[in-house]
Amino acid sequence: MERIAVLGAGTMGHGIAQLFAAGGHFVALYDPNAGQLDKAERSIRAQLALLREGASAAELTTLEQAAGRIVYTSDLAEAAAGADWVFEAAPEQAAVKQELYRQLAPLLADQTAVASNTSTFSLAALAADVPFADRIVIAHFFNPAPLVPLVEVVSLPRTKEGVADRLMRLLSACGKTPILLRKDVPGFIANRLQAAVMREACHLLASGVADAAQIDAAMRDGIGLRWALSGPFEVADYGGLDIWSKVTAHLLPELDTGIAAPEPILEQVRQGRLGAKTGGGFYEYDGSVQEREQARNARLLRLLRSRDEGQERSGTPS
Ligand SMILES: NC(=O)c1ccc[n+]([C@@H]2O[C@H](COP(=O)([O-])OP(=O)(O)OC[C@H]3O[C@@H](n4cnc5c(N)ncnc54)[C@H](O)[C@@H]3O)[C@@H](O)[C@H]2O)c1
Repeated sequence: MERIAVLGAGTMGHGIAQLFAAGGHFVALYDPNAGQLDKAERSIRAQLALLREGASAAELTTLEQAAGRIVYTSDLAEAAAGADWVFEAAPEQAAVKQELYRQLAPLLADQTAVASNTSTFSLAALAADVPFADRIVIAHFFNPAPLVPLVEVVSLPRTKEGVADRLMRLLSACGKTPILLRKDVPGFIANRLQAAVMREACHLLASGVADAAQIDAAMRDGIGLRWALSGPFEVADYGGLDIWSKVTAHLLPELDTGIAAPEPILEQVRQGRLGAKTGGGFYEYDGSVQEREQARNARLLRLLRSRDEGQERSGTPS
C-alpha cells in the first residue's frame, strides 16, 4: 500500500485519486481551490457507487472502503507529507506546473517520485528546471481516468533507475494497461493517432462527403468497434499486408495533410460553441454535463466489463 498525493482535483486529478483509492492506496488530493475539492468528493462518491454496481464480492470490499482512504486538502505540505508518489494534474500551463514543482521540491522525501499527467509538454521540457529532474516522469491518463485502462508512461535516460518500473507496477496493480514509450515525443501514442483521425474526419466533413453524424457512425459502428479489440497492426495482419500495402498506397495521397487546427472545429469555436460543456458543438446537448458524464461512464463500464469477460473466456489478447 502506497501513499499517493494527487495535485489538482479537476477532471483528471479527481479520477486519478479515485483510481488509487479503489486500488487500496492512501490518497491525499490537493487543490488550491476548496470548491474544486468539494466537487471532486461528490463526483468520486457517485463514481464509486457506479463501480459497486455489478462488482465482484472481492472488488466490493475494496470499493466500499475507497472513499475513506482519500483526504481532501488545500495544504500542499500536508498532501506531500510521506508521499511515495506525487501525481500532478494541475492546469496545462507551463508557468503553473513549474511554480507548483518549485513549491513541491522542498516538501519531497528523497525517494518520492513525481508523475505528471501533462497532455502536451515533453518530459524534457517539464524536467528542465526542476530539482527532482531525475525523479519526474509522465503518466498520461485518459478521461475518465478510473475507467480507461491505458496510461502512457514516459521516462528519460536521466530518470533514476527503477522509477519507471515502479510506476508500471503500481499502475498494473490498479488494473491499468501502462505503456512505457521508447521516446519522449509530443502527444505520445494515442493522442497522435486521435489527431490524425480528427484531421481526416474534419476533411471529410468540410468536403461535404458526409455530415458529422454519418462520420461518427462510420467510426462507432465500423472501425471503432473493431479497434476496441484489435490495434491497427493486428487489423492489418488479419486483412493481409499485401492488401494494406495497396490500400495505403492508393489512399494516402487522397488524405488531408494540413497542419493547422481544422476549419470545422475553428468555426464552432468562433461561434462560442465549445461542445457538451456549452450545450452545443457538432451536436446539441440537454441536461447537466455531470448527468451526461455519469450516463456515458455507466455505458463505458458495461462495455469494458463485457470486453474483459470475452477476453477471459477466449484467452486471446485484445
Ligand atoms: N481533460 C482531459 O481529458 C485530460 C486528459 C489527459 C491529460 N490531461 C492533463 O491533465 C492535467 C489536468 O487537466 P484537467 O482536465 O484535469 O484540468 P482541470 O482544469 O479540470 O483541473 C485542473 C485543476 O487544477 C487546479 N489547480 C489550479 N492551480 C493549481 C496548482 N497550482 N496546483 C494544483 N492544482 C491547481 C484547479 O483548481 C483545477 O481543479 C493537464 O495537464 C491536462 O493536459 C487532461
